[in-house]
Amino acid sequence: MVLVTLGLLSLLGLHVNGASAQIQTPLVPWEASPFHPPSIPLAVRSPFLNCWISGGNASMPLSNQWPTFWTGPPSNLGWTGYVRVDGTAYRWLGAYAEGQQANQTKSSFTATQSLFVLEAGPVELTATFISPIEPMDLIRQSMPFSYLTVSVRSLDGESHNVQVYSDISAEWTSGDRSLTVAWLTEVSNNIVHQVQLAPQASPFAIDDSQSQGSTAFYATSNGDGVTYQTGSNHIVRQTFIQNGTLQNSQDNDFRGIYQDNPVFGLSVDLASVMEPTSPVVFALGLSRDPAVQYAAGPETLQTRSLFYLSQFSNATTAIQYFLSDYPRAMNASMAFDQQLVNAASATSTQYAEILALAARQAFSRIEITTSKDQSGAWNTSDVLVFLATGSGMRRPTNTLDILYAMSPIFLYTNPALLGYILEVDFQYMRSGSYQQTFAPHDLGTFIRNYPDVIGNQSPLSSTGVEESANLLIMSLAMAQASGNGGQLNNYYDTLKGLADYLVDNALYPGNQMSTDMAFLPRAPNSTLLSLKGIIAIKAMAEVRSALNITDTEPSYSDIASSYISQWQQLAIDSKGDLLSSYDNLTSSTLGYDLYPDLLLGTNLVSSDLYSSLTTPTKWTQTDYGVTLDSTLPGMAKVDWTLFLAATAGDLSTRSLLISLVHNYLSAGQSHVPFGDFYNIYNGESRQWQARPVVGGLFSILALNQTKPITVPPSTSVPSGPSAQSSTAVLQSTTKPGPKKSTALATFGSSQNMMVLLPTVVLIECVILLYF
Ligand SMILES: *[C@@H]1O[C@H](CO)[C@@H](O)[C@H](O)[C@H]1NC(C)=O
Ligand SMILES: *[C@@H]1O[C@H](CO)[C@@H](O)[C@H](O)[C@H]1NC(C)=O
Ligand SMILES: *[C@@H]1O[C@H](CO)[C@@H](O)[C@H](O)[C@H]1NC(C)=O
Ligand SMILES: *[C@@H]1O[C@H](CO)[C@@H](O)[C@H](O)[C@H]1NC(C)=O
Ligand SMILES: *[C@@H]1O[C@H](CO)[C@@H](O)[C@H](O)[C@H]1NC(C)=O
Ligand SMILES: *[C@@H]1O[C@H](CO)[C@@H](O)[C@H](O)[C@H]1NC(C)=O
Ligand SMILES: *[C@@H]1O[C@H](CO)[C@@H](O)[C@H](O)[C@H]1NC(C)=O
Ligand SMILES: *[C@@H]1O[C@H](CO)[C@@H](O)[C@H](O)[C@H]1NC(C)=O
Ligand SMILES: *[C@@H]1O[C@H](CO)[C@@H](O)[C@H](O)[C@H]1NC(C)=O
Ligand SMILES: *[C@@H]1O[C@H](CO)[C@@H](O)[C@H](O)[C@H]1NC(C)=O
Repeated sequence: MVLVTLGLLSLLGLHVNGASAQIQTPLVPWEASPFHPPSIPLAVRSPFLNCWISGGNASMPLSNQWPTFWTGPPSNLGWTGYVRVDGTAYRWLGAYAEGQQANQTKSSFTATQSLFVLEAGPVELTATFISPIEPMDLIRQSMPFSYLTVSVRSLDGESHNVQVYSDISAEWTSGDRSLTVAWLTEVSNNIVHQVQLAPQASPFAIDDSQSQGSTAFYATSNGDGVTYQTGSNHIVRQTFIQNGTLQNSQDNDFRGIYQDNPVFGLSVDLASVMEPTSPVVFALGLSRDPAVQYAAGPETLQTRSLFYLSQFSNATTAIQYFLSDYPRAMNASMAFDQQLVNAASATSTQYAEILALAARQAFSRIEITTSKDQSGAWNTSDVLVFLATGSGMRRPTNTLDILYAMSPIFLYTNPALLGYILEVDFQYMRSGSYQQTFAPHDLGTFIRNYPDVIGNQSPLSSTGVEESANLLIMSLAMAQASGNGGQLNNYYDTLKGLADYLVDNALYPGNQMSTDMAFLPRAPNSTLLSLKGIIAIKAMAEVRSALNITDTEPSYSDIASSYISQWQQLAIDSKGDLLSSYDNLTSSTLGYDLYPDLLLGTNLVSSDLYSSLTTPTKWTQTDYGVTLDSTLPGMAKVDWTLFLAATAGDLSTRSLLISLVHNYLSAGQSHVPFGDFYNIYNGESRQWQARPVVGGLFSILALNQTKPITVPPSTSVPSGPSAQSSTAVLQSTTKPGPKKSTALATFGSSQNMMVLLPTVVLIECVILLYF
């Protein structure tokens, strides 16, 4: 064993020379709560509405940096804010050269909100970026819209004359900034700017990860003192800076994104300000329709829309509804934040803090879709959720090992969402396009990326064990957490095929790749891959039991028991440590794949082995983290670290692991959206950023959610809320758009199917059932 034994020393506060990182206090001059994250989410609601500002130890204030797409610079997303106080203009958002820079005094984040406080001369301005998370509400969760609110108060006891301004640029419409855009401003009860490429690109086109075929929206409520203007950035901003108002005019000279940069400005005159004003609410959106091109099999190419469009005429009416929904959405967001804090604080405050940073990032990678039937009517029973995975050149869909890593966030907040994602993979596996018994790695190809989902024509047999185990484990976990066995029943044959494949391949995975071999040196006979496969075989026994299918031939339970004893002989060395490869006696790895054994209650692994594999004395550890695998010294993964924490029965070990991840995130050494793979010696993230796998941090909250599994009577409809009990409407006095009802995302069609409920009831359900 080549591991340095540091864990206990660290627990005692002792450090071995040079091995422990010095945690630096970030040098940014404002107060940050709960800490300075590597990057701060601003509008993070979908794979494409995904806007951040850089954070960490050397970050600029909100008033002096451009927000960017999640990929970071140079993908700036023009988003500007000014406040004019007694005739003097101060910039509070963006890095445009004009005006004085407001002084940032505070930043904070919760699961759904990022808040900034800035001083602009004699007033204080609070800018709050709200990206709601509404896991139980298919309509609202599918809206690619986000709020920015601005409130101002006097700091010196005097009243001041105040106007607020904000704009977006056309950079939101494309990663290729040489393209031409066209725009339109609709003025009614609301002012709604819209901008898109001209000619509009295919909704499935992507450039530099940005969507090419989306329409960007920027809107606010109309009223006294509200003005708008479109035109060159210099003209529109100067007009506000000089006059404190815009000219209610449109520049109709459509041109390139960077040709005399067109911007879309909104301004609100707050007049005389003393006490904190009620918030000015801006809504930012980025929608496309159709959203996904999907082929479950040969000859079945279909286009699908974001679910919310089944309730509104179009995105323009929907974003106006979204504006009017702000008071409810703010309440719901605060409730979500608070319930998460309460639940996570039972483990530790630090746990609550890291979950808050993970939540928006994880949820932003899914898109909830529906389709029209042959008559052209929306079929809201047809719900499929797609996961845009990847953080690099290739951006596949529904990568099963990524979904496995993030699945705890769904198991905890709403397991039905996981079911709707798995449904896509099951449909594809059952289609004529896919001829394998093992599960596919993903549903993209090497040339097409999300949202172009046409199946993977080159199935990777080298990830057969990994993905088959993932699919089996997640299917049972979804059924246990929701109590709904409909999907297990519908896809029993597929699941049995996976289990039989694992019986043949899991004990000796040979040259098969585990998910970690995306960054670890490839090594044969991965012990964790084998462990996961064996747990999945036992999961199949549980599937049979839930469906009342007698576990006779083959007895998956007996096979799993026999395999796990053999596995222990092969995988555990004479000192009781876990090798990373059967054949490499100097290797070692963290036993994080014990987690599904605990999660599913398959109880394959003895409690002695649990304790021995979750004992810190064996880890290579600094204040920032624990090495995942000896073949890549010094590199850690946040998702697996938290899987291990959930597996540790010893609460001090759990807290230790959480504190390491917390240190990594708060030390300021990284400056990109929450990277899951990082160096434990300097706290810098590597290779990936903004990935959904941070949903795996919910591992602890996902435990103990198990319900008895029942199978809904009608199994002909595989899944989805049915429309028959549609009685309610979205509660809104203005009611600009919704035609039907609020769909609650539950899975199958049994008593668990509280399908269509009034909004008010819905919020309570979220709180009562899932926290
Ligand atoms: C920022 O703070 C500095 C130092 O206190 C002060 O001189 C300056 O006027 C402040 N700027 C604004 C915009 O309030
Ligand atoms: C300010 O308002 C005046 C009067 O409406 C107008 O003439 C002038 O052009 C405006 N200034 C700018 C920079 O737009
Ligand atoms: C959106 O729907 C509204 C209401 O039906 C309609 O007035 C408006 O023209 C539509 N907008 C677009 C861009 O289709
Ligand atoms: C928001 O919550 C407060 C306090 O719980 C409640 O009084 C108010 O009615 C809620 N507003 C909306 C729009 O739901
Ligand atoms: C609606 O979707 C469900 C689920 O995919 C499907 O079973 C049903 O046949 C569809 N209905 C129509 C009318 O197409
Ligand atoms: C995997 O382990 C088995 C049993 O030790 C061995 O026979 C086999 O050669 C190994 N596979 C590889 C690819 O090393
Ligand atoms: C399995 O059998 C039990 C006991 O007879 C019954 O309560 C349950 O509904 C059955 N489940 C299924 C899926 O048939
Ligand atoms: C065995 O593991 C060690 C890490 O502990 C690694 O350095 C070595 O390269 C591995 N050997 C082989 C043959 O992969
Ligand atoms: C911030 O972290 C980087 C990367 O570790 C380091 O090079 C730099 O010196 C740090 N800056 C400050 C101001 O602490
Ligand atoms: C979850 O279940 C485990 C095992 O039954 C138990 O030890 C633990 O206390 C439970 N945790 C919570 C938070 O209920």
